[in-house]
Amino acid sequence: MAYETLIVETHGPVGLIRLNRPQALNALNSTVLAELKLAYGAFHVDEAIGAIVLTGSEKAFAAGADIKEMQPLDFADVYKSDFISGWDEIAKARKPVIAAVSGFALGGGCELAMMCDFIIAADTAKFGQPEITLGIIPGMGGSQRLTRAVGKAKAMDLVLTGRMMDAAEAERSGLVSRVVPADKLIEEALAAAAKIASLSRPSVLMAKEAVSRALETSLEEGLRFERRLFHSLFATEDQKEGMAAFIEKRKPVFKNR
Ligand code: HXC
Repeated sequence: MAYETLIVETHGPVGLIRLNRPQALNALNSTVLAELKLAYGAFHVDEAIGAIVLTGSEKAFAAGADIKEMQPLDFADVYKSDFISGWDEIAKARKPVIAAVSGFALGGGCELAMMCDFIIAADTAKFGQPEITLGIIPGMGGSQRLTRAVGKAKAMDLVLTGRMMDAAEAERSGLVSRVVPADKLIEEALAAAAKIASLSRPSVLMAKEAVSRALETSLEEGLRFERRLFHSLFATEDQKEGMAAFIEKRKPVFKNR
């Protein structure tokens, strides 16, 4: 399928989605959202795909929501249409999604990266929530996901001043899982995604669900949820195979069941 704002490829069991609006530094507009939903949807129904990498260009992962699209809107417009609520669907992807961030990840761009399961950053990456400089605040999760990722002090600093932080600061503060040289970014992200895709699909999906639940519930509930998922994996053929392969000193052959 041909997209206007995305370039979509498959690399073996990994789906790669590149945001592609170079004239606007990949600013996120309604077309990007509609196309991302389609691309995610296609990868989710494709049994051959085990993980997704979402990336932008060398200069920008995404420089935010499209300011030119938002500028004329008034309160009634955004309230009636529940403007940007559609991005929640992207955040609810079931298969693991890795954000591979090079250059600017600002505003909605930073928020989109945070909707992914983890972020691998190029050493050129710059993260920020500059909405305050436009007379608004983050609206796609920046005040919530950023605070959970980096804590109150750093989140307040970024959200209130609108300043950018570089890749090293983002790694120190826990926003990104690793920083790699810019020319190795896609290779590293694809390798991480391929590793995930090679593992037993039920355990991967449940691992994602369990970690995600940690941010939404109490420790007691989270531990109970984790244990029940853990128990349920003993009903899979892949648990038998994974453990037998370890004991027999061979590679497991997972059937994703
Ligand atoms: C629309 C954008 C854009 C954006 C850049 N462009 N960011 N268009 N929306 N968010 C466009 C510019 O207008 C310009 O188009 C072209 O992309 C290149 O950008 P430049 O500014 O010329 O590039 P540079 O000087 O290198 O500066 C890069 C930058 C700057 C620092 C990233 O572009 C910038 O500050 N962008 C806005 C960042 C921002 O405020 N993001 C938050 C948006 S609000 P022309 O046609 O002039 O060449 C948001 C809210 C989300 O995200 C939550 C609720 C919706």
